[in-house]
Amino acid sequence: MRLSRRGSRLSIVYSQHSFVVYALATQGLGARAIIMPAVKYGHDLEVMLAAIADDTRLMFVANPNNPTGTFIDGRTLEVFIARVPRHVAIVLDEAYTEYLSKDKCYDSIEWVRCYPNLLVSRTFSKAFGRAGLRVGFTIAQPEQTDLLNRLRQPFNVNSMARAAVIAALKDTAFLAKSAEINAAGYRRLTEAFDRLGLEYVLFDGNFVMVRVDNDTAEQRVNHALLKQDVIVRPVANYGLLPWLRVVIGLPEENEAFIAALEKSLAATA
Ligand SMILES: Cc1ncc(COP(=O)(O)O)c(C=O)c1O
Repeated sequence: MRLSRRGSRLSIVYSQHSFVVYALATQGLGARAIIMPAVKYGHDLEVMLAAIADDTRLMFVANPNNPTGTFIDGRTLEVFIARVPRHVAIVLDEAYTEYLSKDKCYDSIEWVRCYPNLLVSRTFSKAFGRAGLRVGFTIAQPEQTDLLNRLRQPFNVNSMARAAVIAALKDTAFLAKSAEINAAGYRRLTEAFDRLGLEYVLFDGNFVMVRVDNDTAEQRVNHALLKQDVIVRPVANYGLLPWLRVVIGLPEENEAFIAALEKSLAATA
């Protein structure tokens, strides 16, 4: 697949509020970003399809999305993929896929066999708990992986990291435990948000986006949390100023966060 014509610019389509690295990758390539408005904080696949221009060669779709946690069901996603022209590569970013409940799982690897323009990307940084190793992988047809192999640095994953992630792939008990702790943490955090009357986006990752009316200049709620040694992710750079993205932790970390949040809200009210 040809990604760009020599000397010409290409464009890349992605959604508002989607993972910030898509914007950075687009800039890094000198490509034109076509950023389509989100719907309910998630991808609007129809408008993304309609946005494909003559020079579009790539689309990014995060499922679930970071930072909003929004999810597209498998059926809708496959219908979308089938409608994307074959000369436009689709990067389906499934960094959080291991957290999905069984009823939401879909088989994107099977789709790779049918759609030569589909690249599914996964990471060991989330449910596998190996973020420090810096390893992820892509599943795609050989035509695509051949292009990636020409571009990536040789030996870009060291031998210890390789051994660790191969062991991680086999450690299904760890993965199941990771998803279980995450689901329990989600229930605990959202119970607290309900009790505190805070809005949150229904999620499918290892974080929850919660509206705390973090205000413009000072981001007071965030700063009040920092003063209590609690670090969450302000998402003003995603155009989501009033919100915070909270990573689900171990039970004691979740409790510490909830206590700190209550104090922060009281202090900034
Ligand atoms: C949507 C999404 N994709 C990909 C990644 C990449 O993770 P890593 O670079 O740690 O493999 C992240 C990490 O935050 C993410 O949120």
